[in-house]
Amino acid sequence: MILGTDQLSKVYRGRGGRPPVHALSGVSIALEAGSTLGIVGESGCGKSTLARLLAGLESPTAGSISLAGATLDSHTSPPSRERARLIQLVFQDPHSSLNPRLTVEQAIGEVLRVHALVERRRVHDRVAELLEMVALPERFVTRHPHELSGGQAQRVAIARALAAQPQILVLDEPTSALDVSVRAEIMNLLVRLQDELQLGYVFISHDLAMVRHISDEIVVMYLGKIVEQGPYQRVLDAPLHPYTRALAAAVPVADPDLAGQPPARLPAAQAAASTGAAEAGCQYEPRCPLAEAICRQSEPVLRCLDGSHAAACHVAAGPARLTGTRGG
Ligand SMILES: Nc1ncnc2c1ncn2[C@@H]1O[C@H](COP(=O)(O)OP(=O)(O)OP(=O)(O)O)[C@@H](O)[C@H]1O
Ligand code: SF4
Ligand SMILES: [Mg+2]
Repeated sequence: MILGTDQLSKVYRGRGGRPPVHALSGVSIALEAGSTLGIVGESGCGKSTLARLLAGLESPTAGSISLAGATLDSHTSPPSRERARLIQLVFQDPHSSLNPRLTVEQAIGEVLRVHALVERRRVHDRVAELLEMVALPERFVTRHPHELSGGQAQRVAIARALAAQPQILVLDEPTSALDVSVRAEIMNLLVRLQDELQLGYVFISHDLAMVRHISDEIVVMYLGKIVEQGPYQRVLDAPLHPYTRALAAAVPVADPDLAGQPPARLPAAQAAASTGAAEAGCQYEPRCPLAEAICRQSEPVLRCLDGSHAAACHVAAGPARLTGTRGG
């Protein structure tokens, strides 16, 4: 395991006198070196909160993060330089993640300088090399973000992340803000880079179709908690949790050619993060077609039901174990 979390939680103070927001509650994940962990869930379930905690941009309220076997001091702010180098975050909107005043060479060169990765006279060549890795020509070095298309800007953001020579990329919906026509290009680029550089990916998406093409393991989150996790094929082909089954049913039947595929829409939801940990019962109960009396009384815990395939659901765990392969 290269990156892991143990019972990671984040509580935000409520805005405008509202109660605190439990954005993340007891989340434990494990990323193996060179592999991809897909994190999926609808808006507000805590995906970006998890990304920010992993990258050290925020401190957890409770729980811990470990990198290459060592527990990180989560209260170091800012994170240590080495941690900040090893775990790079790629955001959804490349234009807002790049400084509009810097040229491509300046933006990437800044990372090389901060981490003292190349001599000053070698910066231009290294930037050109990094651009080549993301399939952009050298002439892009003088461009500013506003002169780049969304896809080009995301390639620059990826090159900038790679400049740090990381072991892990946390990719927070890296294609969601892009035109459908360029999504497949960026996905293919990420797959190639992972292969070439043996990178570990935490790939975050609200779109199960995106996650399925890149993940080795999948974690499904609902209101700040993991409701299902396991090997990607088990989670996709034999989902245990009713929520995952609803997500799977909302995805157009697999078309390996991502190009031209419309973004999958998740089922309608009131996905407000949990405002308290005190409610008894299953958080999914108000939407669940399979709810039983016990679901209102006690909260199901995440447990392995089939090898390393785990779910947090009374019905999936009980004698009335869900059957069938899809739909819900
Ligand atoms: N700084 C903050 N202060 C208060 N609440 C916050 C803060 N950041 C996030 N939240 C709340 O925490 C919850 C989780 O937010 P988060 O951005 O992690 O969700 P997400 O899964 O990334 O959603 P999306 O798919 O829309 O990006 C949301 O209810 C959000 O409003
Ligand atoms: S515990 Fe009950 S309400 Fe919750 S997902 Fe399972 S069946 Fe549905
Ligand atoms: Mg988000």
